[in-house]
Amino acid sequence: MRFNIAIDGPAGAGKSTIARIVAEKLNMTYIDTGAMYRAFTLKTVMNNIKSAHQIIETIKNTSIEMKNNKVFLDGNDVTDKIRDRQISQNVSKIAQIPEVRFFLVEIQKKMAEKKGVVMDGRDIGTIVLPDAEYKFFLTAEIKERARRRFKELKSKGQIVDVRQIEKEIRERDLQDSQREHSPLSAAQDAIIIDTTYKSIPEVANEIISHVRRGG
Ligand code: C5P
Repeated sequence: MRFNIAIDGPAGAGKSTIARIVAEKLNMTYIDTGAMYRAFTLKTVMNNIKSAHQIIETIKNTSIEMKNNKVFLDGNDVTDKIRDRQISQNVSKIAQIPEVRFFLVEIQKKMAEKKGVVMDGRDIGTIVLPDAEYKFFLTAEIKERARRRFKELKSKGQIVDVRQIEKEIRERDLQDSQREHSPLSAAQDAIIIDTTYKSIPEVANEIISHVRRGG
């Protein structure tokens, strides 16, 4: 596979579900960069690390690996733990710190070096893989994104209020799009897809057809 696919967009736009399907159908490797920011956030929460100085020191001694769609933090599988709401509520603050970004972006660039990856996140088309052969930016109306997240959490047995979820997504989007370093934004050459009224297979097929056509 001689190309990479970058998929960016706000929380709940369907990026990870769709990126996973696209990767499977095109026989590529899926890399969820949000999971990496979440894994490091988990470490700071578990160890009660709060000051920027301590966070910067900690990232230097952290190992984050992605293997078979699982995330390993310092050798431990944290795939499920990183989905907790407490992590969602803290991750954007941690992801604003430039040193954290440099560290994780380096790992992400390395993983894509040999091509053949579908990578999703907030800054993939702009910063991590500006030369990606295909770039997509997925969006959806906030109410629909909150509804999707609500369904996901409910299916995991978490009791949540959809309005509260909407508020948290709004806050996270705001922090992600207003931060100084590599904010959430569509690359100029990205294809923008509004997924509000589209099904998951529809969006995945749209991306796959585009890639198969060769752009
Ligand atoms: O994709 P997900 O919603 O799991 O990402 C969690 C958070 O990680 C985002 O809200 C954002 O703060 C951060 N993130 C980022 N850059 C990326 C991927 C995620 O800053 N490439």
